[in-house]
Amino acid sequence: MKTKEIKQFYDHWDVNKLPKYMKDIIDFADTLIEEEIKDKISGFVLDAGSGFGRFYNILKDYDTIYLDISLNLLKKHKGDKKVVGNLLYLPFKDNVFDTVLCINVLEHIGIEGFKEIYRVLKRGGKAIIVFMNKDCLFKEEIFFNFDIFHKPLSIEDFKGYKIIYKKSFYFFPPIFKIFPNLKMIFKFWKRIDKLLSKFSKRGNFIILVIEKVE
Ligand SMILES: C[S@@+](CC[C@H](N)C(=O)[O-])C[C@H]1O[C@@H](n2cnc3c(N)ncnc32)[C@H](O)[C@@H]1O
Repeated sequence: MKTKEIKQFYDHWDVNKLPKYMKDIIDFADTLIEEEIKDKISGFVLDAGSGFGRFYNILKDYDTIYLDISLNLLKKHKGDKKVVGNLLYLPFKDNVFDTVLCINVLEHIGIEGFKEIYRVLKRGGKAIIVFMNKDCLFKEEIFFNFDIFHKPLSIEDFKGYKIIYKKSFYFFPPIFKIFPNLKMIFKFWKRIDKLLSKFSKRGNFIILVIEKVE
């Protein structure tokens, strides 16, 4: 795959250089994700593809290892246990983590990346994953109008695993491109997100919690 290209891209990635509307969307999306995941974490944790540590605040009170392919991003990360590594070849033994977080990473790697996550999870351990949804209602790819390999996944790709929680998130990025100062809409968004949740598999992003059973 295009691991070298992805590493180079993220080595030079700087969220502060993105247009304001994108930063607002990312902040908002991360708030939603944070609310979803904070009560699902326990024990010994791996943040796989941690980047510069957006979720550090909710992980810092756990024994957490932060792994990323980009040394540059890890240098900006506040965590103390950091590992430069490739999610496709995790440098850990089988069955060691209680929780593995993998947020907005698998779309760069593909479903093969999940096999490694599953391998390093303890039996009964939980993988919390967020990924771009191939089956979303609105096809605009909000975080990715830049040149980097990404391939959205579908819930169907996780067939055979024990999914104990799923939810999808909705965003309307085209609105923000045309009217970039519509940040006000975020205030009401949670209600809209709830209404849309009847199309439960069609949001831009999916969050799954998968429990290891074997
Ligand atoms: C969109 S960012 C998400 C970062 C972080 N999880 C977050 O939500 O803010 C994707 C991250 O995946 C990392 N990544 C991409 N491919 C990887 C791989 N094969 N192994 C480890 N990390 C990888 C990138 O370096 C980048 O930090």
